Amino acid sequence: MSELWDAEAPSFDDEPDHGLRDPATREAWRDLLHRHLPEPPARVADLGCGTGTLSVLLADEGYAVDGVDFAPEMVARARAKAGDRPGVGFVVAEADEPPLSAHTYDAVLSRHVLWALRDQPAALRRWVDLLADDGRLVLVEGFWHTGTGLTATRTEALLRDAGRAPTTYRLDDPVLWGGPIRDERYLVVA
Ligand SMILES: C[S@@+](CC[C@H](N)C(=O)[O-])C[C@H]1O[C@@H](n2cnc3c(N)ncnc32)[C@H](O)[C@@H]1O
Repeated sequence: MSELWDAEAPSFDDEPDHGLRDPATREAWRDLLHRHLPEPPARVADLGCGTGTLSVLLADEGYAVDGVDFAPEMVARARAKAGDRPGVGFVVAEADEPPLSAHTYDAVLSRHVLWALRDQPAALRRWVDLLADDGRLVLVEGFWHTGTGLTATRTEALLRDAGRAPTTYRLDDPVLWGGPIRDERYLVVA
């Protein structure tokens, strides 16, 4: 399965919301994450971090970020993007069994990953374990026009089953995606 994502890696950042190359799109994601994450400095696990765009953006804001992804080609790009910045590191590993210390993260961030995991309840239990007492999950997910993904209703149910209280925010602003959208995209804090 990670081979499929390895194959996506070279062109992954071409999508506006992946590479955040447009300054307006980058600023929109920076602002969105600032609104929903604890204030920096805070410790963030970015699970299924891909090419590390969000990890690096957050490191530049003063967060301490550990990125995890099972696709070596994604992680190679994340490491190149981070360069020698302090406060950000990456590991090749399963997102549903991240080799990170329990009860130490102020936030677990995961964008567009939960939908792809086989055992979502087990993954969420593990992600909750990573959180410090007042930590929070910040998940960005969607149910896309392609027919894949997770509806907000389903994600909220999974989070309640994991013992968390979800609050969902619709992400309808075209600037986040590089253009208008016609499907369901959202961020959940729990
Ligand atoms: C749609 S991409 C999102 C990447 C990044 N979160 C972002 O928003 O730019 C999904 C990522 O999750 C990773 N992924 C999928 N299943 C995974 C798993 N079981 N363990 C670790 N990483 C996984 C893929 O390799 C890919 O990098």
